[in-house]
Amino acid sequence: MKRSRVNEIIREGDAFIRSFGYVMPPFAYWSPGEMKTRRPAGIIDSRLGWDITDYGQGKFDELGLFLFTVRNGRAEDLSRGKGMLYAEKIMISRKDQLSPMHRHVVKAEDIINRGGGKLVIELFMPDEEGNIDRNREVEVPTDGVIRKLPAGGLLKLDPGESVTLLPGVWHAFWGEGADVLIGEVSTVNDDLTDNIFADPIGRFSSIEEDEAPLHLLVSDYDRFIDGKG
Ligand SMILES: [Fe+2]
Repeated sequence: MKRSRVNEIIREGDAFIRSFGYVMPPFAYWSPGEMKTRRPAGIIDSRLGWDITDYGQGKFDELGLFLFTVRNGRAEDLSRGKGMLYAEKIMISRKDQLSPMHRHVVKAEDIINRGGGKLVIELFMPDEEGNIDRNREVEVPTDGVIRKLPAGGLLKLDPGESVTLLPGVWHAFWGEGADVLIGEVSTVNDDLTDNIFADPIGRFSSIEEDEAPLHLLVSDYDRFIDGKG
């Protein structure tokens, strides 16, 4: 994916998010140079910030997701059983843009339709090995009410509605009718290790540098700030 396209998606996403009255924190707007000079451990180590992904497939409009990690706790607090155990993201699923089938091992997540179109979520329960169970009925909490669906059923969330996805539950999602602003409230999040995809696919974009980055992506931090990779 070209950097110029990433920059364009950041600008469009920022305007879309603001149109709902949600404003991102100050560090969202720091330049790459500022990020490098200030080198805030609380942002870089927790991997907060912009995350524009085409899952490494180079067709963002069909397969992709806009994410911004607003806050993220500490994995070591999870084993202590107290502390900052939570995370928050704001995301955009464009109309008919698929986020592919995946599950998490550690993370429980509430996926919230914050506005726009309908959010469609395809769901499967795991079998004993954690693989997709194509027969088992799906049971998920939606705003305090348990919803039952057949395996592979499509849960459609209108603005204001949400679903709780416990670790292991397989999910893929996309916007229907219009782009959707999505909130995610979850357990501490490690995107480097805690995404298991049904099909072999990457989690991050590989970027072709055709212009300077407007803002660094989380996946740029190692290379731009630490000079690794
Ligand atoms: Fe997920």
